[in-house]
Amino acid sequence: MLRNSSIVILLLCLGACTEEDNYDPAHDYFTFANVEQVTTQHVALDLDVDFVERKLRGYVVLHMTVNDASVDQIVLDTRDLAIDSVVFTNADGTTNVASFALGDTDPIKGTPLLIAIPSDVDRRKEVIVRVDYETSPDSTALQWLPPELTAGNEHPMLFSQSQAIHARSWIPLQDTPVVRLTYEAVIRTPPDLLAVMSANNDPLVPRDGEFGFQMPQPIPSYLFAIAVGNLYFAPLGDDTGVYTEPELLDAAVYEFGELQEMLEKAEQQFGPYRWGRYDVLVLPPSFPYGGMENPRLSFLTPSLLAGDRSLVSVVAHELAHSWSGNLVTNATWRDGWLNEGMTSYLESRLMEIIYDKDRVDEERVLSYQELLLDLERVPLERQALAPRLDSGNADDVQGSIHYHKGQLFLDYLERGFGRDRFDAFLQTYFDDFAFKTITTEEFLNYLDVKLLRATPGVISRKQVEAWMYEPGLPDDAPVPESTTLESAALLARTWAVGEASIEDIPFDEWSPQALIHFINSLPPDLDFARLAMLDEFLGLSDTSNAEIGRTWFIQVAMRRYEAAYPELEAHLKRYGRTRLLSSVYRALAQNGHDRELAKSIFANARHAYHPLTISSIEEVLKRAEAADPM
Ligand code: BES
Ligand code: ZN
Repeated sequence: MLRNSSIVILLLCLGACTEEDNYDPAHDYFTFANVEQVTTQHVALDLDVDFVERKLRGYVVLHMTVNDASVDQIVLDTRDLAIDSVVFTNADGTTNVASFALGDTDPIKGTPLLIAIPSDVDRRKEVIVRVDYETSPDSTALQWLPPELTAGNEHPMLFSQSQAIHARSWIPLQDTPVVRLTYEAVIRTPPDLLAVMSANNDPLVPRDGEFGFQMPQPIPSYLFAIAVGNLYFAPLGDDTGVYTEPELLDAAVYEFGELQEMLEKAEQQFGPYRWGRYDVLVLPPSFPYGGMENPRLSFLTPSLLAGDRSLVSVVAHELAHSWSGNLVTNATWRDGWLNEGMTSYLESRLMEIIYDKDRVDEERVLSYQELLLDLERVPLERQALAPRLDSGNADDVQGSIHYHKGQLFLDYLERGFGRDRFDAFLQTYFDDFAFKTITTEEFLNYLDVKLLRATPGVISRKQVEAWMYEPGLPDDAPVPESTTLESAALLARTWAVGEASIEDIPFDEWSPQALIHFINSLPPDLDFARLAMLDEFLGLSDTSNAEIGRTWFIQVAMRRYEAAYPELEAHLKRYGRTRLLSSVYRALAQNGHDRELAKSIFANARHAYHPLTISSIEEVLKRAEAADPM
């Protein structure tokens, strides 16, 4: 009998590995840190925010537990950091200056900082090491926004995005989710600005240029976060509120008006919220994601401010990460489905409680459609939920597969075991693994004991492993359905061939999701006269709903409907969230004619984009070029 781990390695290796391959699925291939020998428990940050030089400058003190007393070196992750000094503090208060060196730079992982532990440092239990450093203006985690790129046009802004492996570009640390640590920080800013962090923000703190923070719950390094700007706070409930620039505050208060209720419903459903307050921060358009689950303070794109609360599932998603991801964390980026798939599933459950099943079924169908498209695009060896991952880019491993296939897998378990049993399973899962990290295989073993073998004959371990380690979807995977979306697709087809009139389509009764499905279901040979009629009737090119805009402009680009190109260009300049941009650029660059146009719009727009968005779009344009070298 092969042991489970060998089976895992065998399956992961299909096609890719050689006999002597010693790939270890539980190993994090995206860190240099020697975590087996020392692990960080706590860090204290002391940083000045310099908007003129676009640098953070100061020091970090790392409190580390020694697991192996023979250790003579500490390796930390860095990227583009300038290190000034490294000093150890002994139990009696005396200090030892340490020698250190930067190792060879890897284009993905950055540069290891190699610290020699001085011989007279007592390394039996704990070491305390202070690193003085400054960041580079090109730090991959930090975006330094000039006033023009903020809503108010008057003050600069800074924000971080540490996931997946960018914390190392603003703090030298063990940048791997295997390690959980608490933190405290002192942040000094120019006067009048407010600093916030993924920590205990005080809405009433005076703006005197110095801010103190505590994060008492242990978190992985990718959840370290900071933002500094002309930010103001408005409460949404007793434990919830929103920070943003004053220009956006009213809109944000309306859009996220249900946040307190969401938090309360989430606690009833998933178990206690263990982080204190839950606030959100609405950033300028260049924030590269829809949202980022920084603990106690999710960061959000302003493109959610649609004015009708239609995009709040993103907030439900970030809130749900307070359980899946922040409380129970993927051990490595290969296990990312445990964060993102589980969270997408919890998001859908939360949305069902707050709204209704029909709305969520619509979102399930749209996710499923995106999954089918990704399964056509993503290479087979990256289609497993837990793919082999020892190279490549840790940020975008496999498109939306961790999200949508992961969610579908949990729908499958729910359907198999029934909601009640599955809900009880989830609550114990969050309790048993609270503040821990977990690999896919640990999850499988737990699932095996608590569900598969406890209720035999429903779903087998083998069936579950197919989801984890094989490409595509198993034959018995659920297929989401929505009657509203089905009728929208049918109407798209009948209207396209002139069998229905536009006035007869109940657009007014439809959700944005139904309209999105209608647009996606238009046949490829639809004539431009009909596209123009639709645009005119619904104002698609001028929509203020970013997801409708994304859907429409993908069609505009694929079909080369040039009448709407000016508005397409405006869409690409208005937003900065990668999801809203990259698929439109891809459609334009791959329609066989407009690659140069895509490049020139990008050249004009890129100064307003985040570095991570810029690299995603460069990748899209590069692939378009490789697919079709004109
Ligand atoms: N944690 C992710 C964002 C992320 C993932 C950043 C991987 C870096 C690497 C966040 O929770 C997320 O999933 N955002 C989505 C929201 C959506 C799925 C509701 C996004 O930004 O599109
Ligand atoms: Zn997420």
